[in-house]
Amino acid sequence: MEGLKKTFGSGSPAMVLLLLLCAVLVMLPEASATRWTVGSNMGWNTNVNYTIWAKDKHFYNGDWLFFVYDRNQMNVLEVNKTDYESCNSDHPLHNWTTGAGRDVAPLNVTRNYYFISGKGFCFGGMKLAVHVENPPPPPVAAPIKASAPTLSSRGQILLLPVVFAIGAAWDAFVHFW
Ligand SMILES: *[C@@H]1O[C@H](CO)[C@@H](O)[C@H](O)[C@H]1NC(C)=O
Ligand SMILES: *[C@@H]1O[C@H](CO)[C@@H](O)[C@H](O)[C@H]1NC(C)=O
Ligand SMILES: *[C@@H]1O[C@H](CO)[C@@H](O)[C@H](O)[C@H]1NC(C)=O
Ligand SMILES: *[C@@H]1O[C@H](CO)[C@@H](O)[C@H](O)[C@H]1NC(C)=O
Repeated sequence: MEGLKKTFGSGSPAMVLLLLLCAVLVMLPEASATRWTVGSNMGWNTNVNYTIWAKDKHFYNGDWLFFVYDRNQMNVLEVNKTDYESCNSDHPLHNWTTGAGRDVAPLNVTRNYYFISGKGFCFGGMKLAVHVENPPPPPVAAPIKASAPTLSSRGQILLLPVVFAIGAAWDAFVHFW
């Protein structure tokens, strides 16, 4: 037990490494993007108003749109604003259709994106416009910032409480033994 305590004692290199590893694992979800299933459980379909679907959502640079639909009927075309409004599928900017009825479109530029289904479905409402923004700082940063005003980077703010929490837990564990 004494050897273990030396190896993993609060200030030892092994302990620091362990804490860093834990912190990295905790931080990963914070950096991950959202993959939006277009139309949620209705998918990419007729009888869905995609203006309403998109209205209360924030799309961030790095997110993805996931189109789930009947591959024998619809498709996924990225068009410009004019063609979105007129449902013109003659010259798409990008054809995201792969043939599986499961297509993913990356939102990797902060701009407006326009998607329609060709084959006449756009006229029935299968058209989606999304405004892509830069991601905001993570919500946890605000309350923690108040108690640690000298730290400014995202990583440190997230890391610090995690390190304290794990450190405290480890100390309790070691003292228990
Ligand atoms: C969209 O593309 C069409 C055809 O290439 C073009 O006539 C139209 O001006 C474009 N609209 C915009 C907003 O770029
Ligand atoms: C889009 O790509 C798919 C798969 O390559 C192809 O079958 C389809 O004809 C294309 N549609 C348009 C409108 O370009
Ligand atoms: C965005 O993704 C598209 C499709 O994968 C790619 O062609 C393009 O280069 C990417 N743009 C940026 C700015 O990463
Ligand atoms: C979707 O809903 C919006 C807002 O209620 C409305 O302006 C629009 O016409 C609807 N679109 C379709 C295709 O019904």
